[in-house]
Amino acid sequence: MDLGIEGRNAIVCASSRGLGRGCATELARAGCTVVINGRDQTTLEETAHQIATETGAKIIPIVADVAAAEGQRKLLGAVSQVDILVNNNGGPPYRDFREIDREAQLKGLVNNMVSPIELIQAVVDGMVARRFGRIVNITSGSVKAPIAGLDLSSGARLGLTGFLAGVARSVAHANVTINFLLPGSFDTRRLNDGLASAAKSRGVGIDVIRAEEEAAIPAKRIGRPEEFGKACAFLCSAHAGYITGQNLLMDGGAYPGVL
Ligand SMILES: NC(=O)c1ccc[n+]([C@@H]2O[C@H](COP(=O)([O-])OP(=O)(O)OC[C@H]3O[C@@H](n4cnc5c(N)ncnc54)[C@H](OP(=O)(O)O)[C@@H]3O)[C@@H](O)[C@H]2O)c1
Repeated sequence: MDLGIEGRNAIVCASSRGLGRGCATELARAGCTVVINGRDQTTLEETAHQIATETGAKIIPIVADVAAAEGQRKLLGAVSQVDILVNNNGGPPYRDFREIDREAQLKGLVNNMVSPIELIQAVVDGMVARRFGRIVNITSGSVKAPIAGLDLSSGARLGLTGFLAGVARSVAHANVTINFLLPGSFDTRRLNDGLASAAKSRGVGIDVIRAEEEAAIPAKRIGRPEEFGKACAFLCSAHAGYITGQNLLMDGGAYPGVL
């Protein structure tokens, strides 16, 4: 399907690896100019080269901390106008909630709630004026159901979801949409680090933990960043203008609820 976004400018935050990279690749495949981002320059430049080679699109790598004001300025300054914004960032570490002190709580809120809101504040009026904008926020399945050790993830991301629920309705008239993608288990470094630490603490091989993880998912497999990226690209497409304020859970059926 032609997504109808060829020539659009996209910023995909935290996209040198993992889910962000999956989204950046599919937007590039759809013909967008894509700003990609990460803190490690070597990884970022390698990724930029690979996506550009694979898709033929213009990829602009910006080394920056997306949670810092200076980093956001660099990202926003990389293109003359922003048509598509994919908000993403690293998630908080697994931790018993008793160990999350005030500083860690505030850091989690800044990373996973405040920073995406700041970026939206910076781009949304231009989108409204031009009568096109697509904003996708990568959150987590932890928005729908708690995950042990990720209470800060649930809290900050639910805060973001609640904050933007009204904002999404306020800009829908101008063909500007704001949606959320909620990953379950996807094959990225973050997931594999989690599997490795579970394997270490139980004294078993990572393959054992991975097999258990897969067995618990109705689809019997872990998700692929490419399929996550394709869903993101559709939400950013010209055809998705009537979808806004929605939370799309991608978890192979792991969430057991009806709704
Ligand atoms: N994978 C899953 O199964 C899963 C499930 C639920 C939720 N999530 C959430 O989805 C998001 C992406 O996860 P992932 O699995 O794709 O992680 P990942 O594989 O670890 O990739 C994270 C990416 O973000 C970049 N990054 C991290 N902190 C950054 C910062 N402050 N500024 C700019 N870039 C930054 C990393 O590059 P640098 O390190 O070089 O900066 C890397 O490119 C996270 O918030 C995670 O909690 C993932």
